[in-house]
Amino acid sequence: MFYILNGPNLNILHKRSTNLYGKTSIENIKKKCLEKAAALNVDIDFRQTNYEGELVEWVQESADYAKGLIINAGAYTHTSIALYDALEILTIPIIEVHLSNIYKRESFRHHSYIHSHAAGIIMGMGETSYALALDALASF
Ligand code: DQA
Repeated sequence: MFYILNGPNLNILHKRSTNLYGKTSIENIKKKCLEKAAALNVDIDFRQTNYEGELVEWVQESADYAKGLIINAGAYTHTSIALYDALEILTIPIIEVHLSNIYKRESFRHHSYIHSHAAGIIMGMGETSYALALDALASF
């Protein structure tokens, strides 16, 4: 079982900049992830929340139920020490994912509290970032 956790504002992707995020929605990303997981013969639990505490609780929970974690923490990537602390206790592989290339964007997005805990980082590939992350996790 792999957890795929998504943070704030990813539920309204379809209303955000298509230049940055492409013409997709969280439902579409979930569908693509389920298809990819089926092809790889792995189970996934795909979730999205706008709440930092809920994301922290899900990360904590992944320690007991998941063999790997894919996380797109949205803006909490750049702000959340609570998320940093929750990720720190995990021993499962973590893949940090972003739809956009955060280094092509505002400087406040260049820092990530997830980077230092991640086995790998995939960004800038739109929704394909998630499929690539699943491929990576399945190959570990
Ligand atoms: C994002 C990048 C973040 O900087 C931003 O706050 C998001 C989405 C991405 O997937 O490109 O909400 O994580």
